[in-house]
Amino acid sequence: MSVHAEQKPWTVPALAEAKRQGRRLAMLTAYDAGFARTLDRNGIDLVLVGDSLGMVVQGHGSTLPVTVADVAYHTAAVARALTRALLLADLPFQSDATPERALDASVALLQAGAQMVKLEGAGPKLDVIRFLAARDIPVCAHLGLTPQSVLKLGGFKVQGREQQAAARLLADAQAVAEAGASLLVLECVPTALAQRITAAVPIPTIGIGAGPHCDGQVLVLHDFLGLDSGHRRPRFVKDFLAEGGSVAGAVRAYADAVRDGSFPDADHAYA
Ligand code: KIV
Repeated sequence: MSVHAEQKPWTVPALAEAKRQGRRLAMLTAYDAGFARTLDRNGIDLVLVGDSLGMVVQGHGSTLPVTVADVAYHTAAVARALTRALLLADLPFQSDATPERALDASVALLQAGAQMVKLEGAGPKLDVIRFLAARDIPVCAHLGLTPQSVLKLGGFKVQGREQQAAARLLADAQAVAEAGASLLVLECVPTALAQRITAAVPIPTIGIGAGPHCDGQVLVLHDFLGLDSGHRRPRFVKDFLAEGGSVAGAVRAYADAVRDGSFPDADHAYA
């Protein structure tokens, strides 16, 4: 029997319950119905239509050229294939610059089939999170390495290594949770800091290059399948296709490794 047949569809409240029960969440990105169906049937809890599509599908050097229409198109395709996994979609670059713009973009993504929107950063984004959450739009925050800030950051680099930056990241994580975010992605953050943040916030944390102590993990589909997307392969990426033998086998191997805590190990994390 497939994993799919045994389990109920995920809901937003069930994610918080999973954290309380210590049940880790397995998340991957997807951009089309074919892969989305394979993820959904093989144990993936959360599927993200990430603006990473700009890099791995469209071939750009960053996520900045991606539009709301692009994300909505891929979200609609993915949504048609899902029966169990919860679907998140990214608010692309500057579509969340004001609460009103973010509301318009979120409505487009929810109408395309997303069940939660993800946005990068804290600071001025706290008002955006509050505005969306007050209008019953579930929000996933994204802190640490925020790819939409690549120009300001000067590249895709680990964040929160210095004491001051770590303290700011912890405060930001608490602030996004207080503002009403239901989930928090932590990207490229040292393991010990991600562990502190995970213990400090009531919402589930999903790590990508943030060590094994997060409440869940996410990888970009193309990285997880070992595809060469034309970009330097980050340390936290593991090729699960080599281990799983088939795409479905790779998805099951990843979901199992996330749940039993064996992925990521120290070789796929930052000290
Ligand atoms: O765009 C994306 O795929 C993401 C993940 C890397 C978390 O934001």
